[in-house]
Amino acid sequence: MNVRIAGTGSYLPVKTLSNDDLSKIMDTSHDWIVQRTGIHQRHIAAEGELTSDMATKAAEKALKAANVSADDIDFIVCATTTPDLTFPATAVTIQAKLGLKKDSFALDVQAVCSGFVYALSVGNNFIKAGQGQKGLIIGAEKMSSLLDWTDRSTAVLFGDGAGAVVIEATKEEGILSTHLHSDGTLCDILKTSGGAAQSEHVGKVTMEGRAVFKHAVIKLAQSVEEALSHNNISADDIDWFVPHQANERIIDAVADRLGFPLEKVIKTARNQANTSAASIPLALDDAVKNGKIQKGDLVVIDALGAGLSWGSALIKW
Ligand code: UT7
Repeated sequence: MNVRIAGTGSYLPVKTLSNDDLSKIMDTSHDWIVQRTGIHQRHIAAEGELTSDMATKAAEKALKAANVSADDIDFIVCATTTPDLTFPATAVTIQAKLGLKKDSFALDVQAVCSGFVYALSVGNNFIKAGQGQKGLIIGAEKMSSLLDWTDRSTAVLFGDGAGAVVIEATKEEGILSTHLHSDGTLCDILKTSGGAAQSEHVGKVTMEGRAVFKHAVIKLAQSVEEALSHNNISADDIDWFVPHQANERIIDAVADRLGFPLEKVIKTARNQANTSAASIPLALDDAVKNGKIQKGDLVVIDALGAGLSWGSALIKW
């Protein structure tokens, strides 16, 4: 039995913040941000708008696109690093908001910017292990609430949003392989300044940007190569490369290393910035809506984030 992606959906908050808006509240400029990251604007959740609200809207659209009713969903895996509350999992709030059946189950996965790749892998394995036939895999983040708005080196990089996919058991091809990695010895180069056990508050994002950049380019390229060699295919066989959208310079460097022409690379960082676990499902939905990703296409997704954690998945659409 295989597992395929049956539909995608996404949601972005109405409010946007341009680079020029940011330059009014901190010592930065549109030119610096565009040159270093390719980012022009980011979406910011409204006051009181929660990760579960954004996730629910994205999930509703994914269900519609897949032509699947909420009653048919057996489980939700939500990748988020900005849960509504420390507990319960945001996924159970989404489960309630969507009105899923009582014998469904829901859990969060915490792998920060790699979260969607991890969550997809978890959901794929649930179905392969017989623990459900259909699931919702969600990446949803309210990064704006984790940012130190006085730190220009991180505040300009992130945005809010949510993306979701419906996965289901199939006899055809679908998710061909997933590849997950983490290295906890690198935990200090990207982390928050607090957490429930350490400080009783969630803290703010801190990052050694240059160090993360170097690891990102190397590890993201390696994990796509791993997916290609595992499936005995080459970069030429890939129709679409859908990487995590941290920084266009990272994406371009990885695509170059792998030999992907830029026409095959999906990029959304320009208007959305880095939405952490939400960036890949947002980019997938964008590519589907724009008629880029079509049935039968071979798609590789790839992400790296705090942990460090990273990974890839090869998907026959
Ligand atoms: O999704 C999780 C994974 N995260 C990532 O992949 C992010 C990886 N890192 C990066 O994308 C890049 O390192 C950044 C975009 C964060 C920074 O770019 P950089 O080329 O590595 O710049 P830098 O940190 O080395 O800073 C260069 C200069 C510094 O000034 P000095 O020391 O050279 O005078 C910074 O203080 O740029 C300064 N700077 C800024 N200037 C204007 C840092 N942030 C800003 C800013 N506006 N927002």
